[in-house]
Amino acid sequence: MSYLVVENLHKRYEGPQGGLEALKGVGFTVPAGDFVAVRGPSGCGKSTLLHILGAMDRPSEGSVRLRGQELSSLTPDELATFRRRHVGFVFQSFNLLPTLTVAENVALPLTLDGKLESAARRRACALLDRVGLADRADYLPAQLSGGEMQRAAVARAVAAEPALVLADEPTGNLDSTNGEAVMELLADLNERSGLTILLATHSAEAARYARRTLELRDGRLQRVVEHDGLSAPV
Ligand SMILES: Nc1ncnc2c1ncn2[C@@H]1O[C@H](COP(=O)(O)OP(=O)(O)O)[C@@H](O)[C@H]1O
Ligand SMILES: [Mg+2]
Repeated sequence: MSYLVVENLHKRYEGPQGGLEALKGVGFTVPAGDFVAVRGPSGCGKSTLLHILGAMDRPSEGSVRLRGQELSSLTPDELATFRRRHVGFVFQSFNLLPTLTVAENVALPLTLDGKLESAARRRACALLDRVGLADRADYLPAQLSGGEMQRAAVARAVAAEPALVLADEPTGNLDSTNGEAVMELLADLNERSGLTILLATHSAEAARYARRTLELRDGRLQRVVEHDGLSAPV
């Protein structure tokens, strides 16, 4: 059984000028522990695909099974719980809550899931140490640089040990040095902790950290490129 099975995904949006089909029959499988880049130009459907895989949106047609769970069979409440427990999201714009400290942000997926605050704090601090932010735990997000915010967001995304980490243009708002640091962190979490990661990017440099690339064009999967596990860009 493959870990993530995506079959014949279609997504239609209704817009002011009529309907638009953002995904036109996308299918692929991802084994556990894989690191996959979804690459393609702006508007090709990357975010739409990640939102559907992350149970944040539903397809118009097709199926997503994650660890054997068919997402379309879940009610909205079940979908929200599934998302909280099993999916970690990293966004281009970091999306840390501004009034919570860095440690509270990282602990949030755990406290929302009913973990004791002290245990959640310990786990958050261990993760912050792992991403090189041990001394920033009690800062507010606004007191961090962009690169630091994104490393904190990665720590938050993995806090609940999700089945799948979805990263949507995680380097899009970073300079190349900070972008590389975030990609190395994701690659390290994949290699050493076995996290399954799907990365949406239009950047060839970022995609190089993945084990393979799915090339998306105009809502269709055009090509799959296998990499050789390279963990540094040329
Ligand atoms: N909520 C929405 N309503 C209508 N159209 C949308 C919506 N979200 C995305 N789209 C359209 O779907 C297409 C794919 O968008 P998106 O998945 O965001 O692409 P990407 O992330 O690759 O840039 C684009 O043409 C976009 O304008
Ligand atoms: Mg996008």
